[in-house]
Amino acid sequence: MENIRIKSGGNVMSNLMTNWSNNIKKEWKWFVDSRFGMFIHWGLYALPARHEWVKSRECISDEEYQRYFDYFNPDMYDAKSWAKAAKNAGMKYFVITTKHHEGFCLWDSEYTDYKVTNTPYGKDLLKSIVEAFREEGLRVGFYYSLLDWHHPEFSVDRFHPMGNNKEFREKNKDRDIRKYSEYLHAQVRELLTKFGRIDYIFFDFSYPGEDGKGRDDWQSERLLKMVRQLQPHILINDRLDLNDVPGGWDIKTPEQFMVRERVEVEGKPVLWETCQTFSGSWGYHRDESSWKSVKQLVQILIDTVSKSGNLLLNVGPTARGEFEQRALDRLSDIGKWMKHHSRSIYGCTQAPEEFKAPQDCRLTYNPETNRLYVHLFTWPFKELHLDGLAGKVNYAQLLNDASEIKFSKPPQYEHVGTNKNACKDTVTLQLPVQKPEGTVPVIELFLK
Ligand code: GLC
Repeated sequence: MENIRIKSGGNVMSNLMTNWSNNIKKEWKWFVDSRFGMFIHWGLYALPARHEWVKSRECISDEEYQRYFDYFNPDMYDAKSWAKAAKNAGMKYFVITTKHHEGFCLWDSEYTDYKVTNTPYGKDLLKSIVEAFREEGLRVGFYYSLLDWHHPEFSVDRFHPMGNNKEFREKNKDRDIRKYSEYLHAQVRELLTKFGRIDYIFFDFSYPGEDGKGRDDWQSERLLKMVRQLQPHILINDRLDLNDVPGGWDIKTPEQFMVRERVEVEGKPVLWETCQTFSGSWGYHRDESSWKSVKQLVQILIDTVSKSGNLLLNVGPTARGEFEQRALDRLSDIGKWMKHHSRSIYGCTQAPEEFKAPQDCRLTYNPETNRLYVHLFTWPFKELHLDGLAGKVNYAQLLNDASEIKFSKPPQYEHVGTNKNACKDTVTLQLPVQKPEGTVPVIELFLK
């Protein structure tokens, strides 16, 4: 982890922020600069369309689950349109489930028959997805499930679809997890040798302890070594159960919740990425209706970047191979916001500590251009007081149209009472009464 440690001491602003980004391994700078990626969960579970864990949740046997394999035929699939949707939303990388917990492989793996090329669809999907996204300039990430509910040597545990079936457990008690780990390693080797440069690998997940699985089952240390040897520049997430091993992970991945502060380990900031869904499911879920609004999604992105993190936002394509309308609408509206505001996202990070975000606002900061961005989650009346910025601002403008925002020392309203918020180092921005266009307005401050 030494590469992403900050230097201590000195001027907080110039050292903490610039050194933080300077100290990131140069191979990973793309990741920090990108800030926004697309997760794609696609597999046989798109057919039942009721969550990617359906096999486990509904205790479905291999025999019953087979029907989804037999009918897998995404006739409307067009990777180019997926890649365009991601790019237009402002996403800079993507992570695709090459195999999820159900065990089904999206590529033509040598090591199994349980793969897309043996379904009615009959063609490798992974290759065309990777090519299409690369063509749009996005970086490539692979998700690989450590769990495998189809493999005959994957020992039955508490998450396994047959975990509650005593008879099944008894019959399968001689499964050899070593053999499964060999399969896992061979598949990861395949993924990292047959598809060119892979920028990011997302292993999912470990649950050590009683009736669970962890590093010994996956042979995690050996796996890690192989991955680093095959693709030395690659980023590896933190789910191999190697959190206490030096170099055992590169990036923290808080999932489905918003962190309150920048993620730190032993008091030091680390690379982190939160993965989030549009609704409650990763795989396509027809009847799930708790979809987040565009405003919520944009705010999630901003809040994440304001704490120096990345957002990996998930789409679950349908069994016909399309992004559904609910996803497309949101992606396109996020893209509209990004078109004018991405400058406050790409290459940005948490603002220096001496700048305090006003109420209902988030700050992001670009250490290379020395610009500070104020994201206004609610639009205030006329004035916005920024503490810690007196004498530090050269120029201010709204980001949507580059219209000037005047600023001054905090005004004193002698005849109606003074504004208590104002302290010596405060700058007051004079805002138009009407909220400017855009889901979340942003003010760009050019600092001295
Ligand atoms: C969890 C879930 C899984 C999903 C993943 C995304 O680990 O098991 O279904 O793929 O989170 O990070």
